[in-house]
Amino acid sequence: MIQAHAGVELTPLYIDAAEQRTELLQQAQALTKVLLSSQALANIVMLGAGYFSPLTGFMNRADSLSVAHTMYTQAGLFWPIPIMNLIDDASDIEPGQRVALCDPHCPEHSIVAIQTVEAIETLSDEDSLSIMTHVFATTDSAHPGVANFKAQGRWLISGPCEVLSFSYFASEFPDTFRTAPQIRQQIEQRGWQKVVAFQTRNPMHRAHEALCKMAQQHVQADGVLIHMLLGKLKAGDIPAKVRDAAIRKMVELYFPENSVMVAGYGFDMLYAGPREAVLHALFRQNCGCTHLIVGRDHAGVGAYYEPFAAQDIFLDQVPAAALDIEIFNADHTAYSKKLNKVVMMRDAPDHTLDDYVLVSGTKMRELLSTGQPLPVEIARPEVAQIISQHYQQNTHK
Ligand code: ADX
Repeated sequence: MIQAHAGVELTPLYIDAAEQRTELLQQAQALTKVLLSSQALANIVMLGAGYFSPLTGFMNRADSLSVAHTMYTQAGLFWPIPIMNLIDDASDIEPGQRVALCDPHCPEHSIVAIQTVEAIETLSDEDSLSIMTHVFATTDSAHPGVANFKAQGRWLISGPCEVLSFSYFASEFPDTFRTAPQIRQQIEQRGWQKVVAFQTRNPMHRAHEALCKMAQQHVQADGVLIHMLLGKLKAGDIPAKVRDAAIRKMVELYFPENSVMVAGYGFDMLYAGPREAVLHALFRQNCGCTHLIVGRDHAGVGAYYEPFAAQDIFLDQVPAAALDIEIFNADHTAYSKKLNKVVMMRDAPDHTLDDYVLVSGTKMRELLSTGQPLPVEIARPEVAQIISQHYQQNTHK
């Protein structure tokens, strides 16, 4: 199987042994409590679940800046996005101290991890601007990832973590939330050698479905990992529960049996386009996938990134030796009225845009919120029904 990032064993920071976990939780009660931002909580879940191997905890200022600027830590580890714990106030914390990290998403703020604080630093305005410029390619507060970044504190506490909980992901998505070692194990059990990963934050439309099938066929993969984001999204995106149900229905009805594995990971969407695509590739390698599909406007939002910027970054900025996983570059994919099937535009050179069924996101939302069916060329009827039900329930509230 493809080796994990940087060629080392996976390092999930979750404390697997129940007895040790209980003991650490008891110890944590006496420690200074730090309420995490949603992003830092998501980082904890990813570190705990082995996705962020070989990191052992949160980055310090020098590493965060180095990663933002060069995509390498100071020690030379390839990493595309700073993994930070930014908090509002660290004036009562000292270096060397252990602190209890608390969950912002549950009312009782349960403890999710213990961090041994190595350094306490503050990000200057210049540091923050520089990180945003490199990671998001914008400092515009209208960008949802930038807005979330700006809403975090400026105190940066770095150091190793012991993870004690997967927050709400394990309880709310018991059939879907999986750790990187669990996915590797399943791949092994299925006897798959080549595996194509599909990243998604959306219920899967026919273009998504076709992309998975085309990629699988093109790279001659044994299977597809449909790997959905389960964390926080911007307003207007479809919640993970609805998406999970829609994806499972599509896989059940429209994919050959045993050709797809459906799983999810506990991370908030950053909408960082190209940089996020590189992170996506890195942690799919940790899951044992040999390929990642990167299509049009991958991890993008609005018009902040060129439609294929997330493919270009792998060619222009990611050194060949940095990752082992390969990228399947997908062209814009849509239903062809001429051929009566979903195609990649590069495979239909005789087509003009009028030959495709193209429906904008705004138009789709309009159809859904007024209870009109989505065109069958856009969504499978069974999938459309699940999405439509969600819209109806929410507009009638
Ligand atoms: S993402 O934010 O998770 O990237 P989404 O779930 O919509 O959003 O997309 C998942 C993957 O499918 C990404 O690689 C994206 O580029 C690709 N994709 C989605 N729709 C299309 C399309 N019509 N044509 C080509 N690629 C697409």
